[in-house]
Amino acid sequence: MNILHIDTSVLGDASASRRLTGSIVENLRHSAPNAVVSYRDLAAAPPAHLSGQVLQAMTSAEPGSLTEAQRQERALTDALVEEFLAADVVVIGAPMYNFAIPTQLKAWIDRLAQAGKTFKYTEAGAVGLAGGKRVVIASSRGGAYSTDATLQALDHQEAYLRTVLGFFGITDVTVVRAEGLAMGDAARNKAFVQAQSQIDGLSLRAAA
Ligand SMILES: Cc1cc2nc3c(=O)[nH]c(=O)nc-3n(C[C@H](O)[C@H](O)[C@H](O)COP(=O)(O)O)c2cc1C
Repeated sequence: MNILHIDTSVLGDASASRRLTGSIVENLRHSAPNAVVSYRDLAAAPPAHLSGQVLQAMTSAEPGSLTEAQRQERALTDALVEEFLAADVVVIGAPMYNFAIPTQLKAWIDRLAQAGKTFKYTEAGAVGLAGGKRVVIASSRGGAYSTDATLQALDHQEAYLRTVLGFFGITDVTVVRAEGLAMGDAARNKAFVQAQSQIDGLSLRAAA
């Protein structure tokens, strides 16, 4: 089993999502001791944002015509896509920043989203090519959004990730959520307890 562990928080050791992904991966490892874990810290080493140069590097049918910088971008993109496709389980630390995901996480997704690799279009519409894997999203947020439909409409973090992963053909998506983290100590503690109990359930499922 290949596990891909992705962290994206810019808050280092103070990060809530890093705490959750660490715990999720530890539990999965416990369930599958032979699992191979690959780790990427996208905050420490973010892929460059999509630009005309990067897009050309990713998609050019004539790699020989690329500049040295573009060749490096293409190699990085290919490595990110390969690593993602090879993973049986992807654990993504996804804090909510400004109602959405960290820019580093978006930059990673922009590298993965490639026609012919993670999706394709047919006459019947889009078809995902990265199905068959499980994704666990460690969602952390200062406010609470899951509690009613009005607040849910403000969530462009979990909702976006579900959309794009679905577009890649991934249907097995679990969200481990710690929300209300900025709403006082009691709310914060409760959020972590609830998230941990969800994580404990995940490890049992992985072992089954
Ligand atoms: C730059 C920034 C933007 C944030 N934007 C939001 C937001 O829009 N909504 C929210 O509920 N919390 C917001 N927060 C709070 C974070 O979601 C919260 O601190 C969470 O723990 C972040 O996860 P992390 O600790 O893993 O980075 C923001 C925090 C930061 C640092």
